[in-house]
Amino acid sequence: MKFLVTAGPTREPIDPVRYISNRSSGKMGYALAQAALDAGHEVVLVSGPVALAAPHGAQFVLMMTADEMHDAVHAHLAGVDVAVLCAAVADFKPATYAPRKMKKRDGAPIIELVPTRDILASLGALRSKNFLLAGFAAETDDLEKNAREKLAKKQCDAVIANDVSTPGLGFESDENALTIFLPDHSSRVLPRASKHDLAKAVVKILCAMQQKR
Ligand code: CTP
Repeated sequence: MKFLVTAGPTREPIDPVRYISNRSSGKMGYALAQAALDAGHEVVLVSGPVALAAPHGAQFVLMMTADEMHDAVHAHLAGVDVAVLCAAVADFKPATYAPRKMKKRDGAPIIELVPTRDILASLGALRSKNFLLAGFAAETDDLEKNAREKLAKKQCDAVIANDVSTPGLGFESDENALTIFLPDHSSRVLPRASKHDLAKAVVKILCAMQQKR
């Protein structure tokens, strides 16, 4: 099968030296890409800026902004069987980009933000979609409610949720704990484990789902 995985944060530039981003390390997405490769699948990894080496054997596409990642994902959909969107895409970007460095002497800037495009929702809305679409949900509260809302709103086949409020789990960590929510109201709990082992389990589950379609 062919997997498309997004991973890492995006960076939304304010001026040539500053940007808005988030704490995503890319570890979960890279682990998914590696697990898919290990299972013998073809992998396109669309990644934001992270401090990780690209997995050997993947088609690697490096992107900075949410808009760039959106366009890269849509450009690499041909032949994809399973798309797993793990990237922590910035939800908002500065409305304008200052082409010259903003100076302190000009005072505290007011930075207006505008929404970025939602990549996962844009894939869910595709009429010609014949791949399995899985999104992630990073939540601090009401995990199931929020994950199920994303599943419906973004028209996914699965939402893989993690609770990012537990210290030492999720963001920047080598471990995670996941629950996969499915449209038939069922869920699969993957208890605390290394991102490597969780990725292996997720790849297996998503493959089996796509085979059944
Ligand atoms: N996502 C995306 N494009 C965006 C924002 C999010 O593709 N512009 C994807 C993420 O890759 C993830 C899923 O949507 O698979 C959920 O992201 P999350 O940030 O948890 O959800 P949001 O819809 O942004 O909602 P909120 O931040 O309010 O929880």
